[in-house]
Amino acid sequence: MRHHTSPNLYLPLSELKEVPNFYPPLIESIEWKDVYSNSLPPSRLDVGCGKGRLLLDTAEAYPEINILGIEVRKGAVDWLKAVISGESIPNCGILWYSVVNGIGFITSDSIEEIYYLFPDPWPKKKHHKRRAFNNPVLLEFIRVLKPGGRLFLATDVEEVHEYHLEMLKDLKSLTAKLIESDDEWGLPITNKETFCRKMNIPFYRIIATKE
Ligand SMILES: C[S@@+](CC[C@H](N)C(=O)[O-])C[C@H]1O[C@@H](n2cnc3c(N)ncnc32)[C@H](O)[C@@H]1O
Repeated sequence: MRHHTSPNLYLPLSELKEVPNFYPPLIESIEWKDVYSNSLPPSRLDVGCGKGRLLLDTAEAYPEINILGIEVRKGAVDWLKAVISGESIPNCGILWYSVVNGIGFITSDSIEEIYYLFPDPWPKKKHHKRRAFNNPVLLEFIRVLKPGGRLFLATDVEEVHEYHLEMLKDLKSLTAKLIESDDEWGLPITNKETFCRKMNIPFYRIIATKE
């Protein structure tokens, strides 16, 4: 899946003069019965889930929890929707949505874990504004996490890892910890992590816990 769509896809709708092709619709409120056959709200989020290996594996491993993928690329979302309905996975949801437009449709203090794993790095300084992990999004993550809830961050790009640490540095409501071992991490692997392991590309992991 290449970035064949407009680069403006990665910016909030409020900053755009025109709506690019394949820009996902805004979501202001949501009926969970339209997302999950069990009608319950999610307690885990996979933001930028891509092709959704972790999303699907988590849903399978924890049938008692609802997990929600949020993904801006329609092709990946359509594929995941087909898998979820084809395999009748009641606790797995996927939204075609850009997280930079806010997640006001998710209740405060309701989420146990948020995964923001191997984001697009946008290494050039002039493209940093396309990174989804910015201050408003981080504040939204903090709002929706339950006390004791955890934000998981991973990247194979050292500069992005430093950026994540910098963003978390002065926050009183989140305590960040560098993670070295798979046991401490404890998550199924993502599509991108699979690639990194296969190619021996090192990656960096952080878990930030809400006070
Ligand atoms: C490099 S992929 C990683 C996918 C997956 N997390 C993994 O580890 O395999 C990054 C994903 O984030 C998605 N993404 C980027 N900006 C986004 C945004 N504003 N909202 C939702 N998803 C976004 C991209 O479309 C892409 O699928």
